[in-house]
Formats: sequence, C-alpha cells, structure tokens
Amino acid sequence: MLDEWFSALSILRCTRCGKTYDPNELNTVCPACKGVLYAEYDIEKVKERLTWDVIKSRPRTLGLWRYYELLPVRRRENVVSLGEGATPLLKAAGLGKALGLSNLYIKDESLNPTGTFKARGVAVALSKGIELGVRKFAMPSAGNAGAALAAYAAKAGVESVIYAPKSTPIAMITEIRAYGARLTLVEGSISDAARELSKREKDVFDITTMKEPYRVEGKKTMGFEIVEQLGRAPDVVIYPTGGGTGLLGIWKGMLELREAGLLKDESMPRMVAVQSTGCNPIVEAFRKGWEEVKPPSNPQTIAAGIRVPKPYADYLILKVLRESGGLALEVTDAEIIEAVKEMARFEGLLPCPEGAATLAGLKKMVNAGQIDKSEEVVLINTGSGLKYMDVFLRYGL
Ligand SMILES: Cc1ncc(COP(=O)(O)O)c(C=O)c1O
Repeated sequence: MLDEWFSALSILRCTRCGKTYDPNELNTVCPACKGVLYAEYDIEKVKERLTWDVIKSRPRTLGLWRYYELLPVRRRENVVSLGEGATPLLKAAGLGKALGLSNLYIKDESLNPTGTFKARGVAVALSKGIELGVRKFAMPSAGNAGAALAAYAAKAGVESVIYAPKSTPIAMITEIRAYGARLTLVEGSISDAARELSKREKDVFDITTMKEPYRVEGKKTMGFEIVEQLGRAPDVVIYPTGGGTGLLGIWKGMLELREAGLLKDESMPRMVAVQSTGCNPIVEAFRKGWEEVKPPSNPQTIAAGIRVPKPYADYLILKVLRESGGLALEVTDAEIIEAVKEMARFEGLLPCPEGAATLAGLKKMVNAGQIDKSEEVVLINTGSGLKYMDVFLRYGL
C-alpha cells in the first residue's frame, strides 16, 4: 500500500540574490537578478514522513517518484511518467581492477526512457509545468534533452518545440521527429540554438537547462539513488558536465538527504566535472579561480551533451566543485573513444561519449594520485552509446 502522496515543496529561492518566490506560480529565473531559482522543501515535514525503510517499501516501478516528498509535483495525477529513474549502480570490478581501485561503480543512466538521464529532469519539469497549466514546452538542446522532452510531451499530449545544432547525432534528431515535436536545426552550438529559440518562439514555456527550477529536481534523484544503493555517499562522483544540471542535482539531492537526517554529516562526496579539451569552460574557470566562465569561441567535441560553451549556472557549478573539495578536468576526444571501448570490454556496457569521458577523467586522476585506491568512486554514465552510432562509426569503433 502506498502512503499518501505529498510534496513538501515550500518556496523557490534565488541562488544569487536570495529573493524568494511562490512555487505555486510559474517561474523561470529570478526576475530581480536573473539568478537560478532552487526549490526548497519543508524539511521538518520530510523528517516526519521519510525514512529509508519507508522509501524502500515503495515499489521500484515508481522509479524516481519514490522520493515524492522531496519532489515538486503536488498531485499524483499530474505526474507524466515513462518509467524514469531506479537505474542500477553497477560495481565495475573489471575496470576497477585494471585501475587498481577496489570500489569503482558506474551509475548506469542509459536504462532511462529515451536512453539517457535527461528523462529524469524532463519528467519532473514537464509534470510540474503541466500542474501549473503549461501546454507548450520548448528548449534548446544538444539532442538528448530534446529527445526526452519530445517523448514526455507526446505521452502527456502537449506540444514541444526544440532547437538543436545541425551537428546533433542522427539518433536524437530521428527520435525528436518521431515523437512529433517541432524541431528546428541551427548552425553552431546549443548557445546558438538557445538564441534562435528565444528570438523566434514567443508563446512557449522555455525549460532551458537551469532556466527553470525543476529539471534539476529530477536530476537530484540520481543523488538519492546513489546514497540508497551504497548506503552512504561515495567519496568521489565524476560527472560529464555540460549545463551542469546533473552535477548540481546530485549535490543538491545529497544536501537535502543530509538535512533530512538520511545521510550522515561527514559523508559528502568530492564532485568532479569532466569536460572535453574542445569545450572546457568550467575547467578553465576552475583553474583560474574565476566565478563564471569565459565561453570558448569554437566549441568542438564528439560528446554532444558536453558541448556547452556557456552553462547558465556556471557560478553554481564552480561553487559546488570548490565547496566539495572536487575539481574539474578535461579529456580529449581520442581519450573518450578509448574509454568507450574500455567500458564496453571490461563492463559489458556501451556508454555514451559523455559517460566514457568520466572514465577518461578517472584515469587521469588515478595517474595524478588524486584518488585513494580504496575510495568509493561513482562514474555517471549519462546515457546509452546506442544513440551515438554515427559518431562511433566515424571514429572507427
Ligand atoms: C549524454 C549526456 N551527458 C551529459 C550531458 C550534460 O548534462 P548536464 O547539463 O547535466 O551537465 C548531456 C547534456 O546534453 C548529455 O546529453
């Protein structure tokens, strides 16, 4: 028997200026300073209801919605679900052995609907948008988020409008079209797609990464699941960082668990952002001690999802990396391809290039002595390699 659905969502707070907003209204960014808005929850109410036993008693078929107290959707009938979340945390014993690590794990997000972790953020943002009356959603996308939006919009029977780079892998373009979304392809990167979208589309609700408060709420459930699956937070989480929603979400989720007494104080992970040498704004800003990024002029990488020259939440990503004692590092496309093969051959898992980038990054950390051999390390494989066959073929895989 399910206990009664309840969201402890209380307010939205600007992460830059601290102003608060009513979450029962439709919000994007802070109207005062354009900062990212974060959802906050009534943690006392969460504490009254939520224990690990309660969470574990809920059916796995609920996926990420098992944590509904800490999600923003107030009424269960507004949830649009394709079965997102509840992905496995796989012990990567073969890879671990090769690298001399005894506790290496891969959070395999390729098992989500539409084959990537983007399903989590879109499921929650679209459900919440529908709860607040939205019927036409839009976003610029490097491909996977657009595919997720198109699928969830189809399931909900609402409209979706997507702008994506012309270079987007063919699987995602095909998917978006098949789900019935309106797709516009543009020259350049996701930043160019975003510019075109805001210029041309007026009557849509734009759920651009970190420009509305709820995609990160969906992504934070990766953090909940990792803690649930390990029984604690790992020492290190390595994440392929584009717009940063996943990295921010995992951190936010673990902080909320800690506040709710579901995670012991001392056990927060070091957060590591991996980017490509062809598009490395976070790495550069992290190294130079900047609080915001300087976008590269010609961003290029085979890992489409991390080809994001100017993440909107750059200041938050950099803050989390520093606060957590983590770091940012870059890997080449050749190193990514090598890591795709290694993950496939050692673990029977064909990762997306973004997911493989985390392994390439881990190898650098191991070589630089930045990881203790017995530490628990979680790589986030954000999606399935099956969506990148055209890319892999070009690189001789
Ligand atoms: C497969 C994949 N991994 C990683 C990312 C980067 O995600 P985030 O915006 O959470 O940094 C994306 C974004 O498009 C993606 O599609």
